[in-house]
Amino acid sequence: MEQVLTPAVSTTPHPAISKWHDTADIYTRLGQLVKQPMRQIRRDKMAEFLKYFDEKCQRSKALTDEAKQYIPGGVQHNLAFNYPFPIAIRNADGAYLWDEDDNRYIDFLQAGGPTILGSNYPAVREKLIDLIRECSPVTGLFHEYELKLAKKINQHMPAVEMFRMLGSGTEAVMAAIRAARVHTGKQKIIKVGGAYHGWSDQMVYGLHIPGTGRHEATGIPKSATEHTQEFYPNNLDQLRRIMTLNRLRGGTAAVIVEPVGPESGTRPVEFDFNRRLRELCDEFGALLIFDEVVTGFRLGLGGAQGYFGVRPDLTVFGKCITGGYPMAGGVGGKKEIMLHFAAGISGTGERAYVGGTLSANPLSCAAGYFAIEEMERTNAAGLAGRAGDRLRQGLEDIIQRLGLPFVTYNQGSIVHLETSAVMLLDFKNPIRLMREVKPRKHMMEEMGAAFMAQGIITLAGSRLYTSMADTDDVIDDALNRFEYVLSCCV
Ligand SMILES: Cc1ncc(COP(=O)(O)O)c(C=O)c1O
Repeated sequence: MEQVLTPAVSTTPHPAISKWHDTADIYTRLGQLVKQPMRQIRRDKMAEFLKYFDEKCQRSKALTDEAKQYIPGGVQHNLAFNYPFPIAIRNADGAYLWDEDDNRYIDFLQAGGPTILGSNYPAVREKLIDLIRECSPVTGLFHEYELKLAKKINQHMPAVEMFRMLGSGTEAVMAAIRAARVHTGKQKIIKVGGAYHGWSDQMVYGLHIPGTGRHEATGIPKSATEHTQEFYPNNLDQLRRIMTLNRLRGGTAAVIVEPVGPESGTRPVEFDFNRRLRELCDEFGALLIFDEVVTGFRLGLGGAQGYFGVRPDLTVFGKCITGGYPMAGGVGGKKEIMLHFAAGISGTGERAYVGGTLSANPLSCAAGYFAIEEMERTNAAGLAGRAGDRLRQGLEDIIQRLGLPFVTYNQGSIVHLETSAVMLLDFKNPIRLMREVKPRKHMMEEMGAAFMAQGIITLAGSRLYTSMADTDDVIDDALNRFEYVLSCCV
């Protein structure tokens, strides 16, 4: 086996979140940003950024153009739909990605969040290669790493008394909702408007922009979303009213939230939001589901529930549960709820049916186990959080220096850079929403393209995930690149 170099163990533990932000202040600044005319990139500078793609990304263009003949839209993941065209990635290593034309990028997409150790982390990769040699990725039968992973999660998140591994975050949300209905005998599921919890029929409701209800639910029967409801971010009074009314119409089975706020903290919560939500759920006999697809392990090994000190009834995991390896999803929680998944097998209680031929395969379970073990050893979430703080502070300084109205804030290694504030539009002002959603979305796409032309990959031009691989040098290099792009805004 190739010798594996691993980073030194962190001797000065840094918390994954050094300080919770002033949420009210963020909303004030975002409110001001969204009321102003857009401060987009100057047209001559944007033309220069776009020239990069024509001149330096020709193989990416050829590949993704050809892909359009065989793959609907040419790319298969929402995150890969980049403007002006998708780029094709060939290599991944630590803080960097290289595309098919050999251009190097600082990677703040981090596969959508799960690679807290950095991309293609050698110590995990080599152990998985050994495992595949020994047992192959999948046998259809039980493997010891299923147990090891479930125990590891329980060690760090005591609320996850039992754990069921599945194939994706979407599946895990479906399973959690099913178990909640079986367990409570109630029907309604309440989510936060604008939140994304995967693409199952009942969750394509109030997507991305609060108040949009079934706007994206084309091809989904009305009956599928009949029991899904949304409440406005942070509005627990409205949630209480919905839950009160629900007593007359089937009851509330569960409230599902991302504990940092929807779209992984883009619309952030006040620090005590989750505690108050827990109390409300208890009052109405509804289950509290935390969607920790992004926050699990990224906010520390105890996840957001550990950070906020709030115990959910069920926790949903996704890509984070395998450190970024495929077939990544799972649901965990209280024993008496989780046992509904086994009811058909153990013969007790009512069954919440789940399946998945390749779920809980040895490769995915071992990937999760080894990734968590390495995160324990290295304090990866703390180091990624430290990098996030440095990045946010640097962006803040640049924005102030340039006199721009843009807003940046972070929840540890989840860093937000709002330049167009499209995600902050909502149905409270439908006329502005209709008028501005397209141009503001396009501005965000242009920002993403300009960052990419300067060698930085972001999530849709507005979210930046840091990892343990982001040393001070990487962050400082990135800040210089950000400064150049931001200095081109009119
Ligand atoms: C918060 C959240 N929940 C659920 C999902 C769905 O997970 P998956 O893409 O694995 O189905 C995502 C995916 O981005 C997510 O960010």
